[in-house]
Amino acid sequence: MTNQPNELEAKLTALKVDAQKAIAAVNTLPQLEELRVAYLGKKGQLSQILGGLGKLSPEERPKIGALANEVKEALQTALESQKSSLQAAEIQARLEAETIDVTMPAVYRPQGRVHPINSTIDRAIDIFVGMGYTVETGPEMETDYYNFEALNFLPDHPARDMQDTLYLPDGNLLRTHTSNIQIHYMEENDPPIRIIAPGRCYRRDTVDATHTAVFHQIEFFAVDENLTFTDLKGTIKEFLHQMFGEEMEIRFRASYFPFTEPSAEVDMRWKGKWLEIMGCGMIDPNVLKSVGYDPETYTGFAAGFGVERVALLLHQLDDIRRLYSSDLRFLRQF
Ligand code: DAH
Repeated sequence: MTNQPNELEAKLTALKVDAQKAIAAVNTLPQLEELRVAYLGKKGQLSQILGGLGKLSPEERPKIGALANEVKEALQTALESQKSSLQAAEIQARLEAETIDVTMPAVYRPQGRVHPINSTIDRAIDIFVGMGYTVETGPEMETDYYNFEALNFLPDHPARDMQDTLYLPDGNLLRTHTSNIQIHYMEENDPPIRIIAPGRCYRRDTVDATHTAVFHQIEFFAVDENLTFTDLKGTIKEFLHQMFGEEMEIRFRASYFPFTEPSAEVDMRWKGKWLEIMGCGMIDPNVLKSVGYDPETYTGFAAGFGVERVALLLHQLDDIRRLYSSDLRFLRQF
């Protein structure tokens, strides 16, 4: 007989000692689980030892059974306590790995600035919104009708030569001015109208210190009953004074545009000289007719100016090309 009581007793005691040592030495949770299966699992060492229980005498069985229970409980306790200390260690390691050092220098994210073209547009919009105007935009790709014809440019009128542009293969063109927005807006809306319309324009111009083939304009126009040239003058004065200061000297000089009658050029006194700053006039009755307004009931005024020119003056810049060079040393100054 191999399974004598004191032999089983010795095996159980040895299992307890060995297992406790092994459990205490383990340092990962999966390894600990392996040990649990090896000792206490269905086919584990404890079950194997207890397999010999049947061969013991009925008097001996309870004694060894009680010892086996005690070993089992001791191992369960050892497994539990090792499990909690491994879990605690894992959390501790995670916390250490994920520590944020608040004294470390932050990652530098350069701050963007508003480009002088956009800030000029924003300033103009603010002033006109203060006078009750609303912002409107229109397409940069345009038909001949909206860019020229509806604005009273006859097909062979020489005024078209000053606004040569880029023609697309389908016959469309890139707008030469923001005056096209007048037509789009008036087609869709009835008077009274107070609109400021900024946007990008294109011309077949040779690039130099005062010209770029892509540039920006701001158009503003109003249509109502009884609007007069005085309203136009007052509006422009108010705008230029808010933009450049109350002392700015301004004059109106007779001019010609196909879409206004009468037309004028506005000059500002700049460093002792008169400087042309915008075109304006009373909207030509033909333009009002082209959008279905009755020129006997409504009159309107309109004006348009180049954003780049105004930005150059506001910031005392010498060359329009700087606005398009994307040179950060330049742009960071604003
Ligand atoms: N569209 C003109 C240009 O680009 C500027 C202009 C002049 C607009 C007179 C107007 C205006 O609305 O009344 O040269």
